[in-house]
Amino acid sequence: MNTRTWLVTGGAGFIGSNFILSQFNPQAAMINVDKLTYAGNPHNLNSLTNEPNYILVQSDIGNEPVIEALLHKYQPEAVINFAAETHVDRSIYNPQAFIQTNIVGAFHLLQTVRNYWRALKSPARESFRFLHVSTDEVYGSLEPDAPPFTETSPCAPNSPYSASKAGGDHLVRSYHRTYGLPAIITRSSNNYGPRQFPEKLIPLVILNSLQGKALPIYGDGNHLRDWLYVEDHCEAMRLVLEAGRIGETYNIGSGGEQTNLEVVRTICALLDELCPQSPQSPQSPHASLITFVKDRPGHDRRYALDCTKIARELGWKPKESLSSGLIKTIRWYLDHQDWVSSIQTGAYREWVRQHYGEI
Ligand code: NAD
Ligand code: TYD
Repeated sequence: MNTRTWLVTGGAGFIGSNFILSQFNPQAAMINVDKLTYAGNPHNLNSLTNEPNYILVQSDIGNEPVIEALLHKYQPEAVINFAAETHVDRSIYNPQAFIQTNIVGAFHLLQTVRNYWRALKSPARESFRFLHVSTDEVYGSLEPDAPPFTETSPCAPNSPYSASKAGGDHLVRSYHRTYGLPAIITRSSNNYGPRQFPEKLIPLVILNSLQGKALPIYGDGNHLRDWLYVEDHCEAMRLVLEAGRIGETYNIGSGGEQTNLEVVRTICALLDELCPQSPQSPQSPHASLITFVKDRPGHDRRYALDCTKIARELGWKPKESLSSGLIKTIRWYLDHQDWVSSIQTGAYREWVRQHYGEI
C-alpha cells in the first residue's frame, strides 16, 4: 500500500479518481488539484469525504502560486499529472482549451514542480518523481499491417487533442533532459470502466442503450482501438512510480485490438443478457439501436501499442479481458443510477457551483 504523500492533478476526472480510490491510504496525504471543469466530478471521491488525509483543492494546474503553496505545505514525494482536456470531438470544435491546459498548463506545472524539486534536500530530491499521464494518440494512426507502436515510434498526432498531448509530452521530456527533473511519461491506450464521463464511446453506448437511444457509430465503425480496463492502468502507473526508470516513457495497453463496431456489439449483447428489463426486447435487441453517422474529421483508423517494455521491466500485465472489464463496467453503471442522473441532469455542476463558485 502507498505510504507516500502524492499530489495528483485532475483527480476528479475518470482515470484520476479511479487512481486515487485505488491508491489512497489513510496514513498518507493525497492532494487532488482539479479545476473541476465539466469533466471533473468531486462526487467520484465521495467515499473519501471523511478522510482527513484526502484533500481536494480547486485550481488550474497553470496557477503557479496555488501549486507552489501546496507543494511547500504538503511536501509531496510525487506529482502525478492527469489534468487535461481529453475529448477528441470537443478538441475539434474548441481547440483552445486543449492548448491552454495540455500545453500551457503543463508548462506552468513543470515550472512550479521544477522549482520545488530543485530546493529539496537529499534523499527527498533523489526519490521525487513527476509522472505525466499521456496517451497512445500522440503516435497518430497506424497502417493496417504495421507493427504496434513502441515507445520510440515518432509522435504524429492528428487531432488538436493528440497534438496538445504530444506538446505536453515534449515539454516533460525537455524538463528532464535540460533540468534533470525526474520525470516519467506513460502512454496508455483507450481506457474504460467506472466513472467515465458519458461523452466517451463505452459509457455513451451503455447509457444510450439503457434509455433506448441511438448508438452513434462514426463512419464505417471499423476503426481499431486497444481497450484497457482503468484499474489495470492504475496498477501500471503505481508500478511506474515505484520502479520506473527516470526519463523513460512506458506504453500501457491491453494488447488487443477491436473495431468500434465489435465493441459496441459486445456491449449490446451483454446488455441483452444482464438487463432484460431495459426498453429493448428480444424482438428488438440493443444492437438494433446502432446508427451509422458522419465520420469524425481526422479520425485515426488504428491504434495498437507494443507493451513489451513495461512487461519486461516492471512485470506488468493487464488482469481484465475486454469482456470481464465490460461486465464490471456495465454493472457499475447499473448500480450507480444516482451518479448517472447527476451527470445527465448536470446536477453535479450545480453542486460544484454552490461549493466552489463559478469557474
Ligand atoms: P477526464 O476528462 O475524465 O478528466 C480530466 C480531469 O482534469 C477533470 O477532473 C478536469 O476537471 C481536470 N482538469 C481539466 N483541466 C484542468 C486544469 N487546467 N487544471 C486542473 N484540472 C483540470 O480525463 P481522463 O479520461 O480521466 O484522462 C486523464 C488523463 O489520462 C488525461 O491526461 C488523458 O489525456 C490521459 N489518458 C486518457 C485516456 C482515456 O481513455 N480516458 C487514455 C490515455 C490517456
Ligand atoms: P472516444 O471514446 O471518443 O475515444 P478516442 O477518440 O479518444 O479514441 O472514441 C473511441 C472510438 O469510438 C473512436 O474511434 C471514435 C468512436 N466513437 C463513435 O464511433 N461514436 C461515438 O459516439 C463516440 C463518442 C466515439
